[in-house]
Amino acid sequence: MKIDILLGLQWGDEGKGKIVDALAPEYDVIARFQGGPNAGHTIKFNNTKHVLHLIPSGIFHEGKTNVIGNGLVLDPVVFRQEVESLGIDLGRVRDRLLISVKAHLIMPTHKLLDAAHEASLGDSKIGSTLRGIGPAYTDKTSRGGIRVGDLFRKDFADLYKTRVGEHLRMLKGYGYDQNLQALEAEWFEAAEFLKQFNTVNADYYIDRSLTDGKRILAEGAQGTMLDIDFGTYPFVTSSNTVAAGACTGLGVAPARVGEVFGIFKAYCTRVGSGPFPTELNDEDGQRMRDLGNEYGATTGRPRRCGWLDLPALKYAIMINGVTRLFMMKADVLSSFGEIKICTSYTVNGTQVSELPYCLADIERLNYHTMPGWNCEISKFQKWDELPAELRSYIKYIEKETGVPITIVSVGPDRWATIYR
Ligand code: GDP
Ligand code: IMO
Ligand code: MG
Repeated sequence: MKIDILLGLQWGDEGKGKIVDALAPEYDVIARFQGGPNAGHTIKFNNTKHVLHLIPSGIFHEGKTNVIGNGLVLDPVVFRQEVESLGIDLGRVRDRLLISVKAHLIMPTHKLLDAAHEASLGDSKIGSTLRGIGPAYTDKTSRGGIRVGDLFRKDFADLYKTRVGEHLRMLKGYGYDQNLQALEAEWFEAAEFLKQFNTVNADYYIDRSLTDGKRILAEGAQGTMLDIDFGTYPFVTSSNTVAAGACTGLGVAPARVGEVFGIFKAYCTRVGSGPFPTELNDEDGQRMRDLGNEYGATTGRPRRCGWLDLPALKYAIMINGVTRLFMMKADVLSSFGEIKICTSYTVNGTQVSELPYCLADIERLNYHTMPGWNCEISKFQKWDELPAELRSYIKYIEKETGVPITIVSVGPDRWATIYR
């Protein structure tokens, strides 16, 4: 068996949670491979809405195993809140969830460092979610991180203290003198809560599952344009959000990767700072935000909106080796008379269709305009019901990218999903 990967091709929030939940019945295991509580994955069914930050989006399905892989940074406090707000009996959550002993822990001081670092950047803020992601991954890379498996060590308190000592010195450098008492009490309680869950060598678990013929779906967080290597650096997150991240974040060999599902919105959004070539600071952008309810699932911040960016989409498809595309939120564009697609940029007076090293060098965007479909599509269930103009839009993207679009999402609910 091979592992399929589902990941975002834009700046995150493409609708990964919704689609992973919709596809979960076809899989035995759903495994998150990177990121942490910066993610906010929304799932809607039976008139209820859930936002997941750390827990994989297959958790609402009986009989499925959800894995938190080694590639994640896990905040026990967020984890506890999330488990307690799922509306699922605790014993059942425990049965459905496995946590890698190699996942790194976000400590209270990581969050303080995240905030202190952002404040120090003044006008060049990353727009971090302030969940401690950057500092936790920094500790991982500098080999000072603490991991889930360490919670079971007798000398854990010493390990923790050593790390905190270092963090406090750094915080002092930023001008902060912090009392950690309340934060630490909450964190240690949550860490004890976490210890009741099944912590495993997730790499071996995934290997055994594949050998036993189980079907595994790897769930990405954030999106390709936020990848630490391939995104709009430095306005990115601190992990590899791309397909390769599933290999390192779960311990899966590249040859065992099957399909790569690339998910994108019919337009583009970005939350936080950094370049966004097709951003619309006009009525159309505001309309996308209103109709798409484009406000961050984790921080509530308004998302910046703009037209689909084909050079960026093609780049993401290339980096990830996408085999199928899923188009999300097509319903949001239903009332637009015209749909625009950015097909190339002008850089130094020359038309280019590749992403330049520095997106600020883009002088002009070149658009292809297509007629809108001007009709409500959110009740449609079948591909053949989709209006001709939407099908032309789909066909155009398929022709440009060379990858088939096999799912079109027409609403936030699990059922508002059209399969080809
Ligand atoms: P994720 O981080 O990729 O899981 O995406 P988010 O959950 O952060 O953001 C996607 C938002 O769009 C959520 O509010 C979803 O409920 C919503 N959504 C997902 N698919 C669709 C769709 O096809 N149409 C509409 N209108 N909303 C959708
Ligand atoms: P999901 O999984 C959208 C953005 C932040 C910020 C940058 C760095 O829901 O798609 P970080 O806290 O990671 O250091 O912030 O990345 N960001 C996201 N944007 N969706 C996400 O996750 C994001 N996670 C981080 O806004 O610009
Ligand atoms: Mg999100």
